[in-house]
Amino acid sequence: MISRHHHWQTRLITPPISSAIARSVVDRSRPSTAAHRDSEIFGLGGSRSEELFPARVRIYDGAGRVEAVYDFSGRTAVVTGGAGGIGRAIVARLATAGASVWVWDLAAGDRSEGMFLQVDLTDSEQVATATKRLLKDAGRIDVLVNSAGTLGSYVPFDQLAPQEWRRIIDVNLVGVLEVCSHVVPHMRAERRGRIVNIGSLAAKQGLANLSAYSSASGGVVAFTKALAQELVGFGVFVNCVAPGPINTTLITDLGPDVVESMIKSSPMNRLGSPSEVAEVVVWLCSDACTFATGAVFDVSGGRAAY
Ligand SMILES: NC(=O)c1ccc[n+]([C@@H]2O[C@H](COP(=O)([O-])OP(=O)(O)OC[C@H]3O[C@@H](n4cnc5c(N)ncnc54)[C@H](O)[C@@H]3O)[C@@H](O)[C@H]2O)c1
Repeated sequence: MISRHHHWQTRLITPPISSAIARSVVDRSRPSTAAHRDSEIFGLGGSRSEELFPARVRIYDGAGRVEAVYDFSGRTAVVTGGAGGIGRAIVARLATAGASVWVWDLAAGDRSEGMFLQVDLTDSEQVATATKRLLKDAGRIDVLVNSAGTLGSYVPFDQLAPQEWRRIIDVNLVGVLEVCSHVVPHMRAERRGRIVNIGSLAAKQGLANLSAYSSASGGVVAFTKALAQELVGFGVFVNCVAPGPINTTLITDLGPDVVESMIKSSPMNRLGSPSEVAEVVVWLCSDACTFATGAVFDVSGGRAAY
């Protein structure tokens, strides 16, 4: 099913109960080769870490990891920020599992997978137009992953210009509410759906020099919990994934010293990979997730302490 993994051992764990349930696992207990490690870290269409950030990024060797295989055939997914590092890994993971994936992003990105619409998520009219277009073309929205975001300037709060912290809140929090306000009525009417909002470790711990970003992320967590309660009776699950530092340009653009300090704060002594975040997201979007809603799932390599 996943061609680059075809030589790894695959075994059935349960017969398929519904179309999007986890069906099998890929055993990765064998030592992986360098080529496998690269695809592990960056997902399809990703960049090599050496290009993003020479020498200092710890390479995850992938040994012993087990990846579930899902069937999303017939499902339509929207991934905002799907041109970015984490979003692109989510798009690849959902597309590989058979979903029809729509990317809503400001940036053009890699258009090899999924249908791409250039949308500024802070603009209500643009989101309304994108939603109408999707419903006209695909007729359904089963999955929404809100992964668009920006870190903003990495400075103490009183050095952050008001227009800059407003922009950070606008993209990271208001953007999520904006997209949900257009997609939720459809999911509620259909009485099915999965929404995953990408929050951050910053929401739980508060990160110095990222005060507005931390505030927006805290808002995403609270919004997730509130919306989940409103929708639980309609078969729509809403969850949040809160990654620690992940190897994307969002982090590597901060420069070697900041990245090194993040790595030193990591109990696993490394950055996470986009595919490690995508793995949790895809489970939350699947029918294999049946009793989790309104929850926050840390993907922080053990850094998030509560
Ligand atoms: N990388 C990390 O370490 C990390 C950690 C915790 C949380 N996150 C969160 O994960 C999400 C994805 O992060 P990433 O690392 O992939 O970042 P990224 O910069 O690689 O991708 C973000 C994407 O969002 C898009 N975007 C930004 N503003 C937009 C707007 N107004 N309208 C539409 N699209 C817009 C960008 O064009 C980009 O493609 C973000 O919400 C980020 O806050 C990232």
